[in-house]
Amino acid sequence: MSDYNVIWRRYGLKDNPYFVNPLSNIGDLPLSLFIGRQEERRKLGNIIRLGEARCIVVGEPGVGKTTLVNFVRQEASKSQFFTPSREIEINRPMDGNEFIILTIGAIHDEIKLRKIQIEPELMQKLDALYELTQYGELTPEIANLSQLNRGKLMELFREVVGKIVHPRFKGVILHYDNLDNMDSPNDILELLSDIRDFLLTTKVTFIFVGDNFLPPIVYVRPRISQIFVNTPVEVKSLSYEDILKILNQRLEFMKLSGDVTVIPPHTEEAVKKLFELHDGNLREILNSLTECINETAASNSPILITEDILCDILSRKVNENYINKLSPEDKKILKIMLNKGSHITPTELSKISGKSIQNISSKYLQKLARMGAVRFKEADGRNRYYEVTPVIKWWKLQRSEREKQESKKKAQEQVEKILNRSLKDFI
Ligand SMILES: Nc1ncnc2c1ncn2[C@@H]1O[C@H](COP(=O)(O)OP(=O)(O)O)[C@@H](O)[C@H]1O
Ligand SMILES: [Mg+2]
Repeated sequence: MSDYNVIWRRYGLKDNPYFVNPLSNIGDLPLSLFIGRQEERRKLGNIIRLGEARCIVVGEPGVGKTTLVNFVRQEASKSQFFTPSREIEINRPMDGNEFIILTIGAIHDEIKLRKIQIEPELMQKLDALYELTQYGELTPEIANLSQLNRGKLMELFREVVGKIVHPRFKGVILHYDNLDNMDSPNDILELLSDIRDFLLTTKVTFIFVGDNFLPPIVYVRPRISQIFVNTPVEVKSLSYEDILKILNQRLEFMKLSGDVTVIPPHTEEAVKKLFELHDGNLREILNSLTECINETAASNSPILITEDILCDILSRKVNENYINKLSPEDKKILKIMLNKGSHITPTELSKISGKSIQNISSKYLQKLARMGAVRFKEADGRNRYYEVTPVIKWWKLQRSEREKQESKKKAQEQVEKILNRSLKDFI
């Protein structure tokens, strides 16, 4: 058994209930753990019912986009839509041919998985193309061999879609994930321009998932915006109540065996604190909880992560890994960014801190970005916005000595109250 599992066994759990991977209908994190999102499900459902469309799903990293689209696709597949189980990763620059080959590869996998019968001759063509994608990463050189010209690839795609849909399915749904991992908006724009005609294939719904970079790219060029549905599906943070439900359900799911009692590793107050700190971002909340449990690994008994313990562990972590390595000047800049609460431009930083713009840009921001304390968020015209990384938010959890004393006193009072009560009962 790995050390890791030993930690969770103390709580009566098989494994980490604070996992951060998306739910999916393949793998071991099932979509039965899905909670909430009525509004987004309705919006996406309406788009899919059009039978053929192109749309974007956008939101901050970690709010639940991939999981949402996986869930909606699973629902749709129950009502006769065909969709590859695995989302198609578009997380690096690629050209149109690679994009189309990856798409056909995903459809091929699903045909095999579901043992769908299609004409042998067509299946042979698919198998041959599929082989190309089997040797590690598909290289642009292979994708652009002259035998694989665009016309032929599109023809093959249309033929496959046609053959799958009639007479079995209402349509095909394709889910392209993680477009935000492409470094430059230009790469996405070029790709979309390149595959515009491909995206017009009938009976196919194309769903692109990315962060808030995506709408300005998609909706700026008429040639592209014209083919997308008018508004993006925006995915916001889940409510606090939904997040509590998710955590409770995960504890039940990770329970060791039927008769073991699960000891919840966290209190609701601790979750509330993290919910406020991370603006409801589920992945950041989960990461913070895992971090706390990892810190208690040396203990033999299960430790309950209360609000106090959470504050102590996470503020110590951020101090050790980041803050203590900074000069007073660096700290001042970082504090301004932290207190701003959202993104900030170098100009604004320069005004508040009294430092020159040059120093802000070429000295402070660079150093802070290099150590992972801040990151570039987005550009808007000539403005460039920066923000602190999620771990830096733990700095806000630092409590003064007085606060620590006060909470210690409160805890003591509680214990005394309970002791008094039970002693009374005893006498
Ligand atoms: N509606 C939901 N119900 C249950 N768990 C969810 C839900 N949405 C997201 N999660 C969980 O939150 C984490 C982040 O979700 P993910 O879909 O990966 O976010 P994103 O794609 O926006 O980065 C994952 O661990 C996922 O399992
Ligand atoms: Mg995702």
